[in-house]
Amino acid sequence: MFCYTLITSIFFNIFLVDLVICDGLFYLQRIPSSCVETTVNITTDNTISDNCFIFSWQQITNLSTSYTTYQNPKTNQTFYAQIAALTVLGSIDNYDLDYHCPPTGYNGVSSGCSTSNDTHLVVLHINALDNKLYFINVILSGTPFPSPSSLVDNQPPFGIAWHVFDGGIVTQSTGYLRICKKNNSTRCPNVNGSTHALPYPLTSNTGYGIFGIKKYGFVTNSVWIADDVNQILITSAGTTYFYFNATGFFVYDYKSNTCTWSPSCNYQCELYNYNSRFLDYAGEWIITQKWGVESIKPVVAQAWIGNAIDAAGVFPIIMYVDNATVHYIGLDKLDPNPAPNIGATYWYLAHDDTITGDSVLNFHPSVADVGCVKQLSEWTGPINGCEIIMRLNNIRKMLPLTFIFLYLFAF
Ligand SMILES: *[C@@H]1O[C@H](CO)[C@@H](O)[C@H](O)[C@H]1NC(C)=O
Ligand SMILES: *[C@@H]1O[C@H](CO)[C@@H](O)[C@H](O)[C@H]1NC(C)=O
Ligand SMILES: *[C@@H]1O[C@H](CO)[C@@H](O)[C@H](O)[C@H]1NC(C)=O
Ligand SMILES: *[C@@H]1O[C@H](CO)[C@@H](O)[C@H](O)[C@H]1NC(C)=O
Ligand SMILES: *[C@@H]1O[C@H](CO)[C@@H](O)[C@H](O)[C@H]1NC(C)=O
Ligand SMILES: *[C@@H]1O[C@H](CO)[C@@H](O)[C@H](O)[C@H]1NC(C)=O
Ligand SMILES: *[C@@H]1O[C@H](CO)[C@@H](O)[C@H](O)[C@H]1NC(C)=O
Ligand SMILES: *[C@@H]1O[C@H](CO)[C@@H](O)[C@H](O)[C@H]1NC(C)=O
Ligand SMILES: *[C@@H]1O[C@H](CO)[C@@H](O)[C@H](O)[C@H]1NC(C)=O
Repeated sequence: MFCYTLITSIFFNIFLVDLVICDGLFYLQRIPSSCVETTVNITTDNTISDNCFIFSWQQITNLSTSYTTYQNPKTNQTFYAQIAALTVLGSIDNYDLDYHCPPTGYNGVSSGCSTSNDTHLVVLHINALDNKLYFINVILSGTPFPSPSSLVDNQPPFGIAWHVFDGGIVTQSTGYLRICKKNNSTRCPNVNGSTHALPYPLTSNTGYGIFGIKKYGFVTNSVWIADDVNQILITSAGTTYFYFNATGFFVYDYKSNTCTWSPSCNYQCELYNYNSRFLDYAGEWIITQKWGVESIKPVVAQAWIGNAIDAAGVFPIIMYVDNATVHYIGLDKLDPNPAPNIGATYWYLAHDDTITGDSVLNFHPSVADVGCVKQLSEWTGPINGCEIIMRLNNIRKMLPLTFIFLYLFAF
C-alpha cells in the first residue's frame, strides 16, 4: 500500500488548510467484522462529521509520554511507545471508544478512577528514525461492563482498537488529525487470541528492578515475587510493600511505619486479573530502552495492552512478558485523565523463576520484619516446596536487597 502526501495550501480568507492524505485501517482486535479502510487528513478544521475521529496534534505533543522504546523484530523499525489520555471527538461505525471508569465494586474495583469526557487512552507508536506516527492503539474501557464472571477471553467488550497508517504520518505540533471511514475492508491482520495466549496465571517469577513516575522524575526500587503454589505475591514500589496471600494483603509503608491488612483483594484477585479477558496481544517487541533505566540489554518481550482491574484500582497498561521465559517483566501504566507526563512504569532488570517457598521465605523486609505479624507463618500459612539450601545466585541477588533493608531501617 502506498501513502502519498499532498500539501495543498488553500486560503479561505483567513484559514490555511494543509491536507496530508493517507490510507489506513481501523479495527477492534476482538471484532473481525469491525475492519474498515480509513482516509487520514491533517487539517486545521476540527468540525465533527459522521464516521470520523479527530485528534488534536497539540494534545499529542503536550501530553504523550514514552516509557518504552522497542524494535519490531519483523521490520527492524524502532518505535517509541507513547502513552497518553487524549480528548478525541467522533466515532466510526458507532464505536466511540471513549474511556469510562468501571463502577466501584466492578470485579472488586475500589473507588478512585476518574476520567474526562471524550477521552481515549492510547498508545501511539512513533518511529524513532522518521518521527512518523504508524499506529495508535486505543484501550477499551469495557463499557457497558458485563458481569466479570460472564467475560470471555479475547471477546468484547475489553481489549484494544487499532489505527494503522500506511507509510506513517509526519507528526505535527498544531492542527488536527482526522481519521474517517472510507469503506469496509478485509485487509486487517487477524490476531488469533488462541495462538497468542497470555499464560494464565502468569508464570511464578522473581524480578528486581525499578518503579518510576516521569512526571516527578522519580525512580525507585521495585521487587516482584510471585509464588503461585503458595498463592503469595510480594511487590514493592520504593518504600511501600504489598504482601498478598490467599486471604488478603498487607500494605506496609516505611515512611509512616504503618502496616495495614486488607481482605478486599487477595493473591488471586491481584494476579489472576492479568489475563485475556482484559488484555490483548500487541506483538513481539524487542525492548531497547526504558525510561528510568540507564541502559538495558535488549530483551524480546510480548506486549499486551488493555486493563488490569482489581481491588487496587483500574490500570490501563502495556504489560510485558519475556518471550523466552514467559516471565512477567514489567508494565507501563496510564492515568485515565488527560495530563502531561502521565503514567508510571515497573521494569524488572533481573528476573528468574521463583523457587517455590524459598524465594518468599528469604525476602526481606518480610511481614515479620516490619511488624505486620509476629511470625512469618501467620501470613504464609503452611509453605509448600520449601528449599532450605540457599543457592549462590540467590545470595547474590539478595545482597542489594539487604542493603536496601539496612538503608530503610538505619536512616
Ligand atoms: C481529506 O482530503 C481529501 C482530499 O483533499 C478530501 O477529498 C476529503 O474530503 C478529506 N476528508 C476529510 C474528512 O476532511
Ligand atoms: C500545549 O502546551 C502549550 C505550551 O505549554 C499551551 O500553550 C497549549 O495550550 C497546550 N495545548 C493543549 C491542547 O494542551
Ligand atoms: C533485520 O535485521 C536483521 C539483522 O541485521 C536482518 O537479518 C534482517 O534481514 C532485517 N530484516 C528486515 C525486514 O530488514
Ligand atoms: C460531560 O458530559 C456530560 C454528559 O454529556 C455533560 O453533562 C457534562 O457537562 C460534560 N462535562 C464536561 C466537563 O464537559
Ligand atoms: C469498497 O470495498 C469494496 C469491496 O471490498 C470494493 O469493491 C470497492 O471498490 C471499495 N470502494 C472504494 C471506494 O474503495
Ligand atoms: C459495510 O458492511 C456493512 C455490513 O457489514 C454493510 O451494511 C455496509 O453496506 C457496507 N458498506 C460498504 C460501503 O460497503
Ligand atoms: C486460532 O488458533 C487456534 C489454535 O491454534 C485454532 O484452533 C483456531 O481454529 C484458530 N481460530 C481462527 C479463527 O483462526
Ligand atoms: C519468541 O518466541 C517464539 C517462541 O519461542 C520464537 O519462535 C520467536 O522466534 C521469539 N521471537 C524472537 C524475536 O526472538
Ligand atoms: C494471610 O494472612 C492473614 C494475616 O496474617 C492471615 O490471617 C491469614 O490466615 C493468611 N492466609 C493464609 C491462607 O494463610
